[in-house]
Amino acid sequence: MTASTALVTGAAGGIGLRIARLLAERGWKVLVGARDEAKGAEVAAPIGACPVLLDVTDAGAIARAAATVRELDVLVNNAGISLDAGVPVTETGVDVFRRTYETNVFGVVAVTNAFLPALRRSAHPRIVNISSGTGSLTWATGPQFPHRGTHAAYRSSKAALNALTVYYAHALADDGIKVNALAPGLRRTDLNATAAASDGDPAEAAAGAVRLALLPDDGPSGEFFSWDGTPVPW
Ligand SMILES: NC(=O)c1ccc[n+]([C@@H]2O[C@H](COP(=O)([O-])OP(=O)(O)OC[C@H]3O[C@@H](n4cnc5c(N)ncnc54)[C@H](OP(=O)(O)O)[C@@H]3O)[C@@H](O)[C@H]2O)c1
Repeated sequence: MTASTALVTGAAGGIGLRIARLLAERGWKVLVGARDEAKGAEVAAPIGACPVLLDVTDAGAIARAAATVRELDVLVNNAGISLDAGVPVTETGVDVFRRTYETNVFGVVAVTNAFLPALRRSAHPRIVNISSGTGSLTWATGPQFPHRGTHAAYRSSKAALNALTVYYAHALADDGIKVNALAPGLRRTDLNATAAASDGDPAEAAAGAVRLALLPDDGPSGEFFSWDGTPVPW
């Protein structure tokens, strides 16, 4: 039997690298997507994964990567950027929105569509979109929400990603492709200063992503889950 194959975008560090490691430990063939070739090779080797040069904003790179993968069981859309933490929306330039959306939203559409033929060849295809609880409009409109009026480029990009999760789940239901979004919780990574200063273990978030990657055929699709498996309101 051939090993299952997963592609994790933005997997040269942070949560993505932990997801790649967990899947590799299960004996999967893991493609570590990285926009820096040397960094991808450096992190992939120790975990027994394969580096793939993949900038999710680069159509040519996406097409070249997709051409090398015949069958894909799991796609984890993990690559993301956060440029406006703590900045009020009234002081956030449209360029920051554009750059954020290029990676966090348009990049997901481009990568997902490019790898659909390979996903359709899998017996149990799954797509996991790494979103954020800060993208929940229900939570954002609650009285205790900490980021009121700030971090709007990033948060709205994750709200858009949540919407895409529902639309892809509907569009791909007949293909048996399950598509879900994950809120990983605040984790100590290079994403932004708040994340870097936190004590959240990125490996714990990765375990939540792997749970969605391994959903059984009667599992949910088009839903939003926290890292611990509890539902997150849209
Ligand atoms: N950490 C948290 O607290 C937290 C909370 C909620 C959601 N998230 C989400 O979790 C995901 C992973 O973030 P993280 O916390 O692990 O941060 P991270 O360590 O900064 O990882 C993000 C990864 O995305 C890659 N990336 C950025 N732009 C890319 C592009 N255009 N093409 C390909 N890769 C690109 C980065 O590559 P380089 O190494 O080349 O920069 C990096 O490997 C993101 O979607 C983030 O929004 C994180």
